[in-house]
Amino acid sequence: MAMNLIGRNFLTLKDFTPEEIRYLLNLSADLKKLKYAGIKPRNLEGKSIALIFEKPSTRTRCAFVVAAVDEGAHPEYLGKDDIQLGKKETVKDTARVLGRMFDGIQFRGFKHETVEELAKYAGVPVWNGLTDKYHPTQILADLLTIEEYFGTLKGISFAYVGDGRNNMANSLMIGCAKMGMDCRIVAPASLHPEKGLVKEVEAIAKETGGKLTITDDVAKGVKGADVLYTDVWASMGEEAQMAARIKLLTPYQVNMKMVKQTGKEKILFLHCLPAFHNNETTVSKEVGAMEVSEEVFESKFSKVFDQAENRLHTIKAVMVATLGTK
Ligand code: CP
Ligand code: NVA
Repeated sequence: MAMNLIGRNFLTLKDFTPEEIRYLLNLSADLKKLKYAGIKPRNLEGKSIALIFEKPSTRTRCAFVVAAVDEGAHPEYLGKDDIQLGKKETVKDTARVLGRMFDGIQFRGFKHETVEELAKYAGVPVWNGLTDKYHPTQILADLLTIEEYFGTLKGISFAYVGDGRNNMANSLMIGCAKMGMDCRIVAPASLHPEKGLVKEVEAIAKETGGKLTITDDVAKGVKGADVLYTDVWASMGEEAQMAARIKLLTPYQVNMKMVKQTGKEKILFLHCLPAFHNNETTVSKEVGAMEVSEEVFESKFSKVFDQAENRLHTIKAVMVATLGTK
């Protein structure tokens, strides 16, 4: 199905219809096949893209860079100390300058309003590479990975367990609802998603035949789930809350006990990464595994590295779809 997304921003999946998301997933799978076959279509030949990063990144940054190079575009990394954004120059002015030079702009940072402001004034497509509120490019990779594993999205039961009000929980709810899935957010009541967003997502689910459940009850939330998904307990910028979150979220760790509680034979474990699954990082060396046990992380049903690779193919699809082929 051909679909024209040229010139569109990619800020949240709320702005995309299920058909448009389907198109992006199919394009991702096609571009993945071409890459595996050693074919580089160079759809973005001669284009330049700006990559603004207020927060660190491994996957998103590398996916944008490699995807751009694969397609013949030039990526320019603009770290938080490299440009004036918000400090000596307004976001609006930065948008208007970069929009005169680049064909597309990726933004990763704190306030979601910043990426909205960039999109409002840049005059070229702006892609959200994560804000405090949403992480939509990650969701495309997650959906592609689920589809590769189960062969379908429709009717899949998906449980996100952990911090239920962060950018991942928000974006996963939207993505799952758009694709007609049964989505459960399993989190302590104090970390439940914002009510306004829940209402919006319920309305989406009603249209697509999807379902949304918000619960603090692990047994109820994961029963019958095909996918178990988690994320760090303290997101970037919330590091000071780590100790409190560990206390609150320890009963929500994804471990073998929780896997058994799904009652499912075939299960998929996903995590957007980076993950604290052992004591081998500076942050986790005192605490050890947090949101996921080492056993689950390293299990055969954990496809977190397929998922990480799919960031490349899906981000490439977003750029090709919004900038156009040659
Ligand atoms: N999942 C993800 O966005 O990873 P990075 O923070 O490394 O980009
Ligand atoms: N919720 C995490 C996601 C990282 C990809 C964060 O914002 O730090």
